[in-house]
Amino acid sequence: MHITQHHFGAYRDKNIEEYVLTNNNGLIVKVTNYGATITSIIVPGDHGDCNLVCGFDTLEGYFSEAYKNNAPYFGCTVGRYASRIKDGKFSLDGKEYTLAVNDGSNHLHGGLTGFDKKIWTAEPIQNESEAGVVMSLKSPHMEEGYPGNVEVQVTFKLNDQNGLSMEYEGTTDQPTPLSLTNHTYFNLSGFEHTIENHRATIFSNRHLLPDETNVPLGQVEDLTGTAADLSHGKIFKEAFAGLETGFEHYFLFDKEPGKRARVAEFADTDSGRTLEIETTEPGMLFYTGYFTSDKLRRETGDQFGRFRGFCCETHRYPNGPNIEDSLGSITRPGEKYTSQTIYRFGW
Ligand code: BGC
Repeated sequence: MHITQHHFGAYRDKNIEEYVLTNNNGLIVKVTNYGATITSIIVPGDHGDCNLVCGFDTLEGYFSEAYKNNAPYFGCTVGRYASRIKDGKFSLDGKEYTLAVNDGSNHLHGGLTGFDKKIWTAEPIQNESEAGVVMSLKSPHMEEGYPGNVEVQVTFKLNDQNGLSMEYEGTTDQPTPLSLTNHTYFNLSGFEHTIENHRATIFSNRHLLPDETNVPLGQVEDLTGTAADLSHGKIFKEAFAGLETGFEHYFLFDKEPGKRARVAEFADTDSGRTLEIETTEPGMLFYTGYFTSDKLRRETGDQFGRFRGFCCETHRYPNGPNIEDSLGSITRPGEKYTSQTIYRFGW
């Protein structure tokens, strides 16, 4: 179990680092403090190492025109509020707030300069059973329109059970929407194929119904028996046959709020590689990369693009500040925002 770090590039005259976590089974996770972004997750294989996620080997990759124009948010930490907020507006304790709008009429993934585009402060950690890095960020009052000075921390930790844990913490000096997630796109074939031959199981058959601008307003829809019902496991190809643009569904979990549970599992039927998701979050925006540009590739040649990666965005309700009874969407002074998600790999 060990961690190394090296120079990854420069941004705004600041050095950006990449941290390489390696466990005793040869699983490698790379994270940079630009956007607290997972750049690689590599498993050993009979024919050499295999990278299972969308990302780049150099910082420049995140600044290419093709990447910036497509804005797929590869591997980054999303905040201050993940997913969409309707028309970039919400009211809180009788006050109206207007956020930056960057997705048609809506606010998406924290706005024009979300947490994914910030330089985080990084502190490596290591003990006998884990190697990791703690990333911290301060977000000032009214940044992107959000009230309150917020301090957040994400701790990435890898162990020998092949689990990568992400633990989030946050505090604020004024009530504010806060919902953090990681936006990694997985392809368990290592980009040899699309994800169409993966078998996907999500332990839920309910989602929040989105409106015509792709924002849920609070209505819950039962998916039982539909193409999007993954509760008994399904090959993506079969699901996609009935879903033209794939998945972009916020699944709601039947579990005690705040309690960590296994909520999804995936297997690549060709290679046998697996991924399990555990989370404390009330739901997960499950996205299968319909909008990812086919022009994007890793420097090694790994081809990204449509249906070539899926994201398990575990977070508070999309548009939560505008949905009554949405669980934990607002953090208040004196409270601590907490959240944990684990990605667990098999090969
Ligand atoms: C959203 C997609 C968006 C993607 C990249 C996902 O979380 O659901 O609509 O295209 O992020 O921005």
